[in-house]
Formats: sequence, structure tokens, C-alpha cells
Amino acid sequence: MMTDLNWYFYSDTNAKAGELEELLLKKNHKLKSFQLLEDLFHKLERTPHSILFLKAYTTYNVYDLCQEISMKFPSVYLIILVPENMENTKKAMRVGASNLLTYSDATDEINDVILQAQDYMKQRASKGEGVTHLPKQNSRIMAVCGSKGGVGKTSLAVNLANAFIKSGKSVVILDANFQFGDVAMYLDLKPNRTIYEWVKEAVERGRYGIDNYVSHHSSGIALLPPPPRPEFFEIMTEEHVALAVAELRKRYDVILIDTPTSLSEIHLKSLDLADDLLLVTTSDLPVLRNTKLYVDMLDSLHFSEKVHVVLNKDSKHRAIEAKRLEGILQNPVFASIPDVGKQMTTAINEGLPLVLRNGRHSFSKRMLQISHLILPPPEEEEKKTKRFALSR
Ligand SMILES: Nc1ncnc2c1ncn2[C@@H]1O[C@H](COP(=O)(O)OP(=O)(O)OP(=O)(O)O)[C@@H](O)[C@H]1O
Ligand SMILES: [Mg+2]
Repeated sequence: MMTDLNWYFYSDTNAKAGELEELLLKKNHKLKSFQLLEDLFHKLERTPHSILFLKAYTTYNVYDLCQEISMKFPSVYLIILVPENMENTKKAMRVGASNLLTYSDATDEINDVILQAQDYMKQRASKGEGVTHLPKQNSRIMAVCGSKGGVGKTSLAVNLANAFIKSGKSVVILDANFQFGDVAMYLDLKPNRTIYEWVKEAVERGRYGIDNYVSHHSSGIALLPPPPRPEFFEIMTEEHVALAVAELRKRYDVILIDTPTSLSEIHLKSLDLADDLLLVTTSDLPVLRNTKLYVDMLDSLHFSEKVHVVLNKDSKHRAIEAKRLEGILQNPVFASIPDVGKQMTTAINEGLPLVLRNGRHSFSKRMLQISHLILPPPEEEEKKTKRFALSR
């Protein structure tokens, strides 16, 4: 129950929580403020499943303090409050923060952060604390697919993964681009074990535990990386993909499979295993032509029911009208994603998904909407039929 959540605020300058406290009160949450660190620690020892807003500027460095608290009390949901010039999302995640607010954030942003914390704690409570090794009953498997290179499949996979994390889901990406997969690069990870080592060291010896072969990003995204060299692709079979998904289902709420453009048995198996196919396309005519061929192939495989067309890099200057595009594909557009230009390249270069780099960007908000459209949060169940239409 929401009223059971503990909301704490700590500041090393005795600053008041101000607007934050008022906003929480409007939602019937009481915020308890601490001025002494030892009082706070004492409280956290007794109530480790709490949400803590951490503001420190003078006595402590807020990032160092956050790291100390997250190590001592790993169950605490930490939100760092910093002046605008100290905003560093990457660093915040490294030190164990779940979210970050700046002093000048608008009411909407603060409310968003409160709701995310609430969602996360609710999900965690419904799963039962400390039972992460119980098999997940209802994992949702999504394959991100498309018929042409560079349409934005991997960008969608990593950003959507983050959006699901923000709603409190546990998420793994299976990079099924076994020859030239680049999800690890998009997340700035350098895995030393992959699905290939899992097959060689475990599966071929009759063992299936996969946890040691999964890499972890500081945002919480897990990744099962592809083989370390393109030629190792030879030994990989569609059966391995099915086995890996079966193992990952025991641990994660959401399994996102990033597929390559080339068709292979592995690609087809990924489509077969998925509950949802996120078919990424742009409105460029050569891409549309291929997308249409791909849609026809999905029809012939009897997968049409689970297809969701995602129109990426959308802009006002789209070459073709929305209605015509939907006519050609004989599918509605499930969601459109704005063209964010160079910002995506910068995010990729930094190895930090745009959703994390800038949670307030319209792109990030769209990712959250798409994640809710696929897996509606409990209170939004009845609204799930609402579609994010194209701006016509
Ligand atoms: N919404 C967007 N706005 C602007 N640029 C984007 C957007 N989505 C993707 N891009 C850019 O498109 C390029 C290709 O993206 P991405 O690697 O995600 O495509 P892909 O479909 O996974 O490609 P591949 O077929 O090679 O795996 C990247 O440079 C990325 O920055
Ligand atoms: Mg890709």
C-alpha cells in the first residue's frame, strides 16, 4: 500500500525540503527530514526499504555520500538532489542512485521522479523482497526487428530497456545479432563472457545456469552479449537462442531481443519466441519497400497478430503521409519516435542511452509511453487501448 512507503530527506545544510514535501503531502505521503547523518543511518537500519532524497553540498560531496549509503543500505531507493552545474547522470548511477533532480527542476519533473520511485517500490513489494531467484511467471519477450540496417533497432532496444527499468521491471537484452552485435557498445560495456562461452562451457556440458554470462549496466539493464568474434557464429543454433530465453525467463520480467537485419534460422527463432514484434521502420521509400516485404514474410509465418510497427526518425518533413504509409504496410503505426538528430549519436558515443542522458527529452517520454503501452502499469490497465497516434 502506498501509505506504507517511507520517504526521507537529508540535507547537510539543514535546508528544508520545500516543494518536495508539499508535493508528497498532496499524495498523502509524509516526508521525514534528517539533519544528522547518524539519525538517518539509525532509521535506515530499521527501515531499509525506503526512499531517500539526498541533498549535500557543504559537509559532504553528494555523490560520495550516495555511494556510502547505497553500499551500506542497498535496498534504499536513492534520489540525488544537486545544483544544475553538478548534474551528472552517469556518475549518479555509478554511485548507486536511482534518480537525480536538480534544484531548479519544475514541479512536473519532481512529480515524475516521485511517481517513478513509487512504481518501483510497488513492483518490488509485489514481487516480494529477496526472492529474485524464483522463476518469473510472466516474462514478456519482445523482439526488435526490421528489414534494413540503421533504422534504429538497437537504439530502440537500449532506450526501451531503460524505460522498463524506470517502471520497476527487471530487463535483459539478448543481442541476437551474433556476428556484428553492438548493444554492448551502446551501453559502454566490455563483456568478457557471452552466449558463446555459455554454450561452450555450460550447455555442452549439460548445465544451463546463465547468470555468470550476463553483463550488467549501472542503470540495471542486463545484457547477454553475442559471441566475441563473428566467425563463432558458425556454432550457434536457434536451439541455443530458445534455451537462453528459457533461462532468462527465470530471472527477468522483460526480455528484449535485438535482431540483425539478415534473415537466418536464429532470426526466425527470435521472432517465433517473442510475444511482441517491434518492427522498426522509417518513412524513407527504400526502407518502406523493405518493411513491406518483411511484413508480408511475417504474415506468411502467421506472426501478424503480434506485429507493432514503430516509425522511427519521424519528423514533419516525412516523405509520405501517415495514412498512405499505414496503407502500404497494411498495419497501423503503433508508435512514432521523433528524429533527435545528433543527440542520438552523442548518446551512443558516450555509451549512455538517451533516456538516461536526458530523461526530460520528448524522445525519453515517448519511450516511457511505449513501455506503458506494451506493459501497462497496474493503474493504467484500463487505458491500454489508447494508441499513440502519429501527429497527422
Ligand atoms: N530517433 C532517432 N533520431 C535520430 N537518430 C537516430 C534515431 N534512432 C536511431 N538513430 C541513428 O541511426 C543510426 C542507426 O541506429 P541503430 O544502430 O539503432 O540502427 P539498427 O537498426 O540497430 O542498425 P543495424 O541494422 O546496423 O543493427 C545511429 O547512428 C543512430 O544514432
Ligand atoms: Mg543494431
